[in-house]
Amino acid sequence: MTFMATKSRPLSGSVRVPGDKSISHRALIFGALAQGETQIEGLLEADDVLRTAAALRAFGISVEKRGARWTVEGNPWKAPARSIYAGNAGTGVRLLMGAAAGQSIAATFDGDASLRKRPMGRVLDPLRDFGLQAEDTKGGLPVSISPSILQAGTYRLPVASAQVKSAVLLAGLGAEGVTVIEEPVLCRDHTERMLKAFGVRLDSEPMAQGGRRITMQGQQALQATSVTVPTDPSSAAFPVVAGVLVPGSDIVVEQVLLNPLRSGLFTTLQEMGADLSFENKREISGEPVADIHVRYSLLKGVDVPADRAPSMIDEYPILAIAAATASGTTRMNGLAELRVKESDRLAAVSAGLTASKVQHETGEDWLSVTGGSVSGGGVIETMMDHRIAMSFLVMGLISDDPVSVDSIEMIATSFPEFISLMETLGASFRR
Ligand code: S3P
Repeated sequence: MTFMATKSRPLSGSVRVPGDKSISHRALIFGALAQGETQIEGLLEADDVLRTAAALRAFGISVEKRGARWTVEGNPWKAPARSIYAGNAGTGVRLLMGAAAGQSIAATFDGDASLRKRPMGRVLDPLRDFGLQAEDTKGGLPVSISPSILQAGTYRLPVASAQVKSAVLLAGLGAEGVTVIEEPVLCRDHTERMLKAFGVRLDSEPMAQGGRRITMQGQQALQATSVTVPTDPSSAAFPVVAGVLVPGSDIVVEQVLLNPLRSGLFTTLQEMGADLSFENKREISGEPVADIHVRYSLLKGVDVPADRAPSMIDEYPILAIAAATASGTTRMNGLAELRVKESDRLAAVSAGLTASKVQHETGEDWLSVTGGSVSGGGVIETMMDHRIAMSFLVMGLISDDPVSVDSIEMIATSFPEFISLMETLGASFRR
């Protein structure tokens, strides 16, 4: 069913987006590997994360919601009776594969049509190097793994992927020997930070030629702990950009995770001239957070360097919308990974910009957008991708004619409250 966004009055007020998706998956999975009861506050209760909770139950782990808290009781994992269905969740399925490999059990993993198209070889290759017996389906899901004794080794990440890094570390936790991961280009480090909070000894040191080397002894026991999940910068991105773009807006997005390996969008927006201030800086569960005060601003185009891509990989669709309103051209580089997300995001963004009559060009791994006044008027094909839907709905708040998206169903995978939260700020949507 199509859903429409129309020109909005100035946005105002203070909101808090839901918990970080990356940290939520990790808190559940690490809790399931730990001895004792892990308590999680602020867990993202969205489809992707609830699939991970259900998967862990299928592995024999008790995962429960008690009041506002989630508790996970670590236990030896058992082989699930049925195949694990991860829905749309790339992070969920890749991390679960790594963890299950480390627990030496048999399991089959599957997902929805989008997840079935995504590459799993990037995770299975290093796990097979460690000795995992696994069958894939043309490099993707369904994937079946067999109980295997793993021998850890050294793996140099060929792509800047925190999902791959995390899957290898999770497998390495159950392996004999030392896992060494060389990371030439840094990507999000929530796994390293959270493993330490669960009592795992792990070293992460800069390499002489750049990047980091992570070293972890296998077969360490995790100790249950309490985790408070900060709010997701990849969800905060939507109200933040809306606040910058809708004339007259003045909003606060509270308690946003500002890990430097996640905050590339905010850096880029500031370079474009956005008036963002980071207030009340503090730490939550070993992660930096702040309230982001956002005021309407006129933007100018910038060049976004390729080496910033890992710190804002999920934010290019919404950056493209900001770029469409900026004076001049914004060139975004190093975007090859966008081709293998929940959709081919470069293609989906380009098609949406074409439908909205925004001047732009794309190459295999880049996008350049020349801004101006945005006419809108199109019906956007979201390709069943939550971030494409939310990005173009933000565009509709400032375009001359309304913007419709073909479906909002997938928004529930990461940010079920998106519509109502944006409406409390003053965003105008029509069902
Ligand atoms: C994630 C890592 C990123 C990101 C995804 C979440 C994670 O994927 O796009 O939304 O939680 O580790 P890659 O590791 O494939 O870059």
